[in-house]
Amino acid sequence: MPLECDPTSAQVLAGRQKTRRHPAGARAGWHDGRMAESTKVELGKVQQTLFFPLLARARATRGRRPLLRDPKAVEMVQAVDFDLTAFRAPMQFPVVIRTMILDSWIRQFLAGHPAGTVVELGTGLNTRFERTDNGSVHWIDLDLPDTIELRRQFFADTGRRRMLAASLLGDDWLAEVEALPGPYFFVADGVLPYLTEEQVTGTLARIAARFPGSGLAFDSYPRVALEWEHKMAAKRDIAFWQWSCDDPRTLERFGLRLVESVTPTRPPAGVRAELPGRFRYLLPLADPVFGRGLRVNLFETAPQPPAPGTTE
Ligand SMILES: C[S@@+](CC[C@H](N)C(=O)[O-])C[C@H]1O[C@@H](n2cnc3c(N)ncnc32)[C@H](O)[C@@H]1O
Repeated sequence: MPLECDPTSAQVLAGRQKTRRHPAGARAGWHDGRMAESTKVELGKVQQTLFFPLLARARATRGRRPLLRDPKAVEMVQAVDFDLTAFRAPMQFPVVIRTMILDSWIRQFLAGHPAGTVVELGTGLNTRFERTDNGSVHWIDLDLPDTIELRRQFFADTGRRRMLAASLLGDDWLAEVEALPGPYFFVADGVLPYLTEEQVTGTLARIAARFPGSGLAFDSYPRVALEWEHKMAAKRDIAFWQWSCDDPRTLERFGLRLVESVTPTRPPAGVRAELPGRFRYLLPLADPVFGRGLRVNLFETAPQPPAPGTTE
């Protein structure tokens, strides 16, 4: 679907913003091991939200005992010529643990299907491939054209990994994924809340119908979190979330089966085991703060029905 037909396009396009220049030389940074000219940023309002998780991962990496190491995020934050003030999350932990949980599900998928295909929907400047590459996975990083233009300043296509400039609301990208070897795993990290409910459920249903037996993982937020985000976004003049979901099981009617749904305070056992002791024991106590706003969900799309006339 072209962007013009996309009901979120007003938000997507309205905030297209000219490069904000910093004092000469002040933001020149390092990336790929060399001094870079400041990288210009011209992104729509929704696309700019990629700086939220990027900053959180960069700041977490620079911490004293980091839960997550994302040195490339640090380089990219230093290299962009853009005022990031509005995208400082009050707390990094939800983004960091969400990243760790989604990474762990990708590794789990790759353990069973080392040469399968992972599709990162709304990839922004995420470095999940760098964190989870097993040497044989095929990978697509999909995002809107202006985001991919920025992403190309920092990442390069290779034989197994490439960037795709497309709206996930369109159909074109589905054939590009089908051309790669299955099985497939789709991940959308911090993306779906920016779409309308109709767009989210339509996208999930299209993936389920076209890619039976695939994995699909994404974060969701209850109505109460949407209200909090709207207040914060209005103050900072940034994009508003549009979709909330109080119960991820309600999404099963779109051809999905919910395999696991966790909160940041009760992550999967494998992720919990990676956390330092103080986190493992204290996290459940943080349920009232971190346990109610965010869920990270792992779904499976319904398996392919047997062809007529065949026996299972
Ligand atoms: C909060 S950012 C998350 C970025 C990335 N997933 C991460 O974790 O760093 C939301 C991302 O969704 C992308 N996005 C929003 N609407 C989209 C659409 N219709 N098609 C593809 N990407 C979209 C934005 O461009 C942006 O990169």
